[in-house]
Amino acid sequence: MSAVTISTDALYERVQNVIPRVEWATMADDVEAILRLKRERNAVILGHNYQTPEIFHGVSDIVGDSLALAREAQTVEADVIVLAGVHFMAETAKLLNPAKTVLIPDLRAGCSLAESITAADVRALKAAHPGVPVVTYVNTSADVKAESDICCTSGNAVRVIESLGVDRVIMIPDEYLARNIAAQTGVEVITWPGHCEVHERFTPFDIEQIRQDHPGVVVLAHPECPPEVVAAADMAGSTAQMQDFVTVEQPARVALITECSMSDNVSAVNPGVEFVRPCNLCPHMKRNTLAAIRAALEHMRHEVTIDPEVADRARAAVERMLAVR
Ligand code: 13P
Ligand code: SF4
Repeated sequence: MSAVTISTDALYERVQNVIPRVEWATMADDVEAILRLKRERNAVILGHNYQTPEIFHGVSDIVGDSLALAREAQTVEADVIVLAGVHFMAETAKLLNPAKTVLIPDLRAGCSLAESITAADVRALKAAHPGVPVVTYVNTSADVKAESDICCTSGNAVRVIESLGVDRVIMIPDEYLARNIAAQTGVEVITWPGHCEVHERFTPFDIEQIRQDHPGVVVLAHPECPPEVVAAADMAGSTAQMQDFVTVEQPARVALITECSMSDNVSAVNPGVEFVRPCNLCPHMKRNTLAAIRAALEHMRHEVTIDPEVADRARAAVERMLAVR
């Protein structure tokens, strides 16, 4: 066994249920280098729940759903933040930390929702529905956030909408999230035809099949899934809410109707739970690899920057969201 493998052994214990030791041996060199570079650069890694287990459990300092990453970004003391997630998450971290260096390991890590709408689209919606508040999912660019009254995530959308005390909102850009949240709040939503390319692929038939093949399975779905999929599930919630459900309830069998790596990450710390793994990969989240994170810290790339005037308005929408409890 090499010296590097030995020094990362303690980390391996966290992922031993989901990564074979022989595979870890090929990762240990990058893990070791990333741990060293984090110390040298005074950097922290924020890892989204969809990162692969070696990133999520191996090198991330703070992990969570979009809401947790935004909240935690407010308290980071390091000089450098590496966002192991997608571009809108790195922008949110930058909005909340204008003086820090925020890096994204691969600039191509986008999001089909963020790409579905522009600032000009939001201005047109506002002109068509004057006075109706704009609630914008964090899965959007800073330009779009800057045109919005308040942001939300899948973890706090109900609370954000109820905090406004209105009976009608413009909720963009995820049509399915908007319809799922409207069903819970009774507030009328004006939607936008944006979809998550991962969650839109699940169907009620998939859930029927899972239930038939795995009797007793508890089915948890992300609210970016179509409403008929959410209706067929036992519970819907953000990635963190799904993780909390499994950790607390310890179902004998569970299926997470969401991105593939979630099941690996939750299963690594819940060895008593059997995971049925319907697998839809997010190609954007998977742009992050140990090698890309190592290169980001070695070369201090790719730095996320936001026009200051846009940033001020976008930050206000994010901060209004974070003030909702
Ligand atoms: P949450 O982690 O906020 O549930 O979001 C899921 C997602 O698709 C982020 O891209
Ligand atoms: Fe965007 Fe969907 Fe990928 Fe999340 S899973 S980053 S919403 S494409």
